[in-house]
Amino acid sequence: MDWKDLYAQRKMTAEEAVARVRSGDRVVTPNAAGAPIHLINALVARKDDLKNVEIAHMVPLAKAPYAAPEMEGHFIHNSIFVGGSTRATIEAGIGDYTPCFFHKVPELFDTTLPVDVALIHVSTPDEHGWCSYGVTVDYQKHAAEVAKLVIAQVNENMPRTLGDCFIHVSEMDCIVECNDPILELGAPKITEIEKKIGGHCAELIRDGDTLQLGIGAIPDAVLLFLKEKKDLGIHTEMFSDGVVELVEAGVINNSKKTLHRGKSVATFLMGTRRLYDYVHNNPAVEMYPVNYVNDPVIIAKNDNLVSINSCVQIDLLGQVVSESIGPVQISGVGGQIDFIRGASMSRGGRSILAMNSTAAGGKVSKIVPFIDQWSAVTTSRNDVQYVVTEYGIAELRGHTTRDRARSLIKIAHPDFRDSLKEEFEKRFHTTY
Ligand code: COA
Repeated sequence: MDWKDLYAQRKMTAEEAVARVRSGDRVVTPNAAGAPIHLINALVARKDDLKNVEIAHMVPLAKAPYAAPEMEGHFIHNSIFVGGSTRATIEAGIGDYTPCFFHKVPELFDTTLPVDVALIHVSTPDEHGWCSYGVTVDYQKHAAEVAKLVIAQVNENMPRTLGDCFIHVSEMDCIVECNDPILELGAPKITEIEKKIGGHCAELIRDGDTLQLGIGAIPDAVLLFLKEKKDLGIHTEMFSDGVVELVEAGVINNSKKTLHRGKSVATFLMGTRRLYDYVHNNPAVEMYPVNYVNDPVIIAKNDNLVSINSCVQIDLLGQVVSESIGPVQISGVGGQIDFIRGASMSRGGRSILAMNSTAAGGKVSKIVPFIDQWSAVTTSRNDVQYVVTEYGIAELRGHTTRDRARSLIKIAHPDFRDSLKEEFEKRFHTTY
């Protein structure tokens, strides 16, 4: 049958589509800016007909109405990366958190988290009937491949990104058209502290490097200091508007990449409409599923891969907490370890963990003698290479435990250095 006939046959309202969800189903929804809000709202409106529908996803950029306390019994949220709109739910025990390396998330759908329903969010079809996953490819593509039921939100505002990021109309069971704007994330506020951190990170970046940048003020601050560099490349989990500026300035041209030369590679995107317009039909950007982009073996095929991520706390042994504050799960594993390990296997690769030296308005040090009770170690001390704060760079890899602790104290906030030195002397039976 012609795909246009299939499309017409399977086109329906959001209400008709979500009427096919059953109590007890596991529904996987897309990550970050890919959230199909029109479908989610229609599903939540059916709450009184449904019991124990599990909603699983990663970064919740949108509101999460299924995670509200009054949804208990109707929906259970299974978070693979906690965010602002789901934190309270997880903390209250109404939902739960599944730790997982980002590149392994698609594999969960073949093993412990089989998918009943995939809600997907795609571009309008091209002349051959293929829709692009646009800003969010990551685990969404595999969820649709294995789901019993695929409900697609087809959105004329979704950019048509290129790469291995398409689904054919014939693979969709229900098609719901909408023209909602794609969720946007504005530029973070960059303070003088983040600028200092960005400057230190930039000291570790050389012309011709390929970069992975996490999300937030620190990665954006790093980009500010790269304007004088040459021939940089991008192989990253996600990127934002800052990368577009450096492409336009001719700093990022991907010309020295040893994998996908000439292309910026990512698995999801989060930024403003400027970014989404830039990636639309742009052969200089390729989007692939996360089990490819974030696979450490694939990452390592990029020579001189530099990863930059952030963390919450690091102890004097070099153990890194990135996703919880004590017992409170604030985010997730994401691609931090994927890229730290990929960078360590990359010829000439380097990994950086960059953070403000303090939190809570300067009241607490992020460099501590002992990590907080119930905190989860995201990155082990064996994986860490460089740690950067506004006070400088500590190189941990290849150094003794004592030297690592000394280097970390040097980049701690001066207000906390004396107490850290005292703990150092107790632990290592030696003067600082
Ligand atoms: N003690 C107490 N509070 C702390 C803290 C600490 N040690 N460290 C951070 N916080 C608080 C901050 O004050 C802030 O609170 P606020 O929201 O009330 O201002 C909050 O926790 C978030 O910290 P902040 O440093 O502003 O977060 P960020 O947006 O820069 O993100 C991570 C930092 C570590 C949470 C984030 O990078 C992450 O989730 N990393 C793990 C996943 C990953 O690396 N993925 C790969 C790249 S996408």
